[in-house]
Amino acid sequence: MKNRLFSLLLFFLFIFYSCERQKPIEKVIDESLSFSTKQYELMLEVMKEKSDLLPRTIDTTGALVTSRSNWWTSGFFPGSLWYLYEYTHDEKFRDAAKLMTARIEKEKNNTGTHDLGFMLYCSFGNGLRLTGEESYNDVMLTGARSLSTRYRPNIGCIQSWNSRKGWQCPVIIDNMMNLEFLMWAFNKSGDSTFYNICVNHSDTTIRNHFRPDFSSYHVVSYDTITGKVEIKQTHQGAADESAWSRGQSWGLYGYVVMFRETGLARYLDQAVHIADFLINHPNMPEDMIPYWDFDAPGIPEAKRDVSAGAIMASALTELSSYGDSVAGTKYLQVAEKQLRSLASPAYRAKSGENGNFILMHSVGSIPGNSEVDVPLTYADYYFIEALIRYRKLLDKNQ
Ligand code: GLY
Repeated sequence: MKNRLFSLLLFFLFIFYSCERQKPIEKVIDESLSFSTKQYELMLEVMKEKSDLLPRTIDTTGALVTSRSNWWTSGFFPGSLWYLYEYTHDEKFRDAAKLMTARIEKEKNNTGTHDLGFMLYCSFGNGLRLTGEESYNDVMLTGARSLSTRYRPNIGCIQSWNSRKGWQCPVIIDNMMNLEFLMWAFNKSGDSTFYNICVNHSDTTIRNHFRPDFSSYHVVSYDTITGKVEIKQTHQGAADESAWSRGQSWGLYGYVVMFRETGLARYLDQAVHIADFLINHPNMPEDMIPYWDFDAPGIPEAKRDVSAGAIMASALTELSSYGDSVAGTKYLQVAEKQLRSLASPAYRAKSGENGNFILMHSVGSIPGNSEVDVPLTYADYYFIEALIRYRKLLDKNQ
């Protein structure tokens, strides 16, 4: 009798999990967006009281860690709130997004960082797109000019970090993510300087950051006098010659954007090559959420980086609409798999837990022993973005 009961239980569990696996993607997306709104309502209550600060991650005790506006991730929480306003049309999210966006305004004059695209475009950029708020134009144009001061004409790149660790002019693959902001400035102002910076930066990065297999280095440092490559290394990856996962996702996303914004076929080719490198990589796990580095020691026990998976899912969803349809279908299938994985209990937090962040298990920097296996505000941002992008594709194809 006991054995029969146990067999029945197993049978029902099998049916239950089979049904779960087959849940329509629309349902997975709507459930995740609905969960995100609830989780971020809780985050909002906490953040309203913390004037001038933005959420970043949690510490080892589970307590919320915040940042000031000059930290590179400051724009992601406001940006996520804008996306949630787009999804819900609820004025509460619009007002909250405005409030959090305003906390970053002073960074428009910051010429000491290359991260202004992340900081200002995710926040003010989404706000402008959704509300047409006139004053955001000035903030963003000022910010775009500040970012442009970091362009080095003899190198053909925007300088990422100020010189450090013996690097004269370090340029990181992440920097591809600032170009969407400058392309917006070109379209708004008609000033071709912005366009030329973006195209030169993208072309120099194709030449020097990528290996023959289309994986990329993290840091390429240039000689400031000759403009030639000084050294190729890593800062957050497992080794100079490894493929640091988030960097690969930044590169993919960056070239998808550059194709969208310029129509230049070489950027689509580059995006397709990077996507194929990632999707076909022997160390890509079955659930398509990458280890923190494709060459991490200890795979398959190595930590995952959920942020890399979320950025990749968002980029692949957009890429699926470009180029040939067979490849497009493949990219969309991978993005769907990634969204299903991220939405599962393996990666998505429980309500009110995880410091009110949405996703668990990201990695900031393992070599720096910083933010290891934690929620990160940018993982949430790109997850929400990917969900909304995928939802729009479904609506379009209905
Ligand atoms: N741009 C910094 C990072 O991806 O960690």
